[in-house]
Amino acid sequence: MEIQVRGGASLRGQVRPPGDKSISHRALILSALAEGESQIFGLSDGEDVGRTASALSAMGAAISLPDELGSPEAEVRVVGGKLSEPSKPLYLGNSGTSMRLLAGVCAAHQMDVILDGDESLRSRPMQRIVEPLSLMGAKVASASEVDASESDLSASQAISVPSKAAPPLAIKGGNLSGIDYTLPVASAQVKGAILLAGLRANGETIVREFLPSRIHTEEMLAKCGADIAVTYGGEFHQTTKLRPSQIQPHIWRIPADPSQSAFWIVAALCAPASEIVVENVYIGPGREGFIDVLLRMGAKMEFEQKISASISEGFSDAPSRSIPPPGIPPSGIPSIRAQTSSLIATDIGPKEVPRLIDEIPVLAVAAAYAQGITRFHGVGELRTKESDRVASICTLLRSLGGQIEAEGDTLTIQGTGGLQHGQVDAAGDHRIAMSAAVSAMAMPAGSEVSISGWEAVATSYPRFLEDAAVLGVRAQGTTAQWTT
Ligand code: S3P
Repeated sequence: MEIQVRGGASLRGQVRPPGDKSISHRALILSALAEGESQIFGLSDGEDVGRTASALSAMGAAISLPDELGSPEAEVRVVGGKLSEPSKPLYLGNSGTSMRLLAGVCAAHQMDVILDGDESLRSRPMQRIVEPLSLMGAKVASASEVDASESDLSASQAISVPSKAAPPLAIKGGNLSGIDYTLPVASAQVKGAILLAGLRANGETIVREFLPSRIHTEEMLAKCGADIAVTYGGEFHQTTKLRPSQIQPHIWRIPADPSQSAFWIVAALCAPASEIVVENVYIGPGREGFIDVLLRMGAKMEFEQKISASISEGFSDAPSRSIPPPGIPPSGIPSIRAQTSSLIATDIGPKEVPRLIDEIPVLAVAAAYAQGITRFHGVGELRTKESDRVASICTLLRSLGGQIEAEGDTLTIQGTGGLQHGQVDAAGDHRIAMSAAVSAMAMPAGSEVSISGWEAVATSYPRFLEDAAVLGVRAQGTTAQWTT
């Protein structure tokens, strides 16, 4: 599917992006593990979260979805507590978070399961979860030479196939023991997989991290009664200790996704005469790095703390931001007002990268619209995302006349104050597609960007174009205009 986005926009108005994707996956999983009925308000309506829901249903969780997902009021009910072996391989589409978190869940249950996904997911690294889950006692291996569509195939057959750790993954779970594990890569998905497995392991599970990553699994486990403790400092940034626990049902209210909010914020900062409000955005440890960077670049943003930080409570002392900028809550669910700004270049260090990993494509667009040279250091992990984002960010900016170089793990962008019309291939990657759309929104009237592969956006933000139209309708004169 190809779309065209026109320049000449002045973004005005108010939007509420979908419920946070990371929190949505975890709310479904924890609700499926808790005995009894949980409620989830504001679940993401993206396909990725739908994959987690379908997989949990196939394992016996009773999930009732409202007719229309996507609003903060939409209520999902989950009756969980008794997961069992699914009759077929679990197909997880494009969703790396589903695969890694569910691998932890399956490893902790007496079941033989195969987890599979689309071509992109099949190429993503899984050794990072295979290692710790195997150390805990699960049998986890790649079943890449196995036809995962064969529903009668048991994981115990599949794991005899020697192969590198790539999906489909065959898991034979149960009888786990806790481990003391230091994450070799900063990854909240790996941490989440280990902690979800640790819920049903014998003894204590400890996860140690050198760099901050998002803390949703920890804070959400605490909220539903798990025996979990988090400490900061010493040799590690964070140490998480979990003892086996039966978690309790919970009412989850999911705030808007900061990673999706970043698209509107950058569009408003770069497009002329724009002023928007993005409502009720989750700003918590491990997710707020893009705000620090945009503030350093001179972004005009204000934060209004409108409702209580129901998800963030309890872990708000997590010191992921070393020096909180003045006026910014360290965590919470503020609405964010953003206005057209003259952006200047900045340097992003390797330690910051895990806190803004998903926002780098759109921050690269901001850097192209800024004045000066912006460098992102230590971005090697970007090569392991839905596309090789080092390559796809370079292609995106170059297709629109931008100047960008990748050398080793450093991206260098020469900001020239703008980008030009052109054609972009989304490379099967939702965040590349939406970043291309943002590039176009900030261009002068008369410019147009064609984006092929737009369908990838459904994985995380199916209503992106509707929200764009909301901001456009309130604008004066010509705004972003869409043809499909
Ligand atoms: C996520 C963690 C990050 C992020 C992904 C969602 C999560 O991945 O890029 O979009 O929900 O835990 P890594 O754990 O691979 O860094």
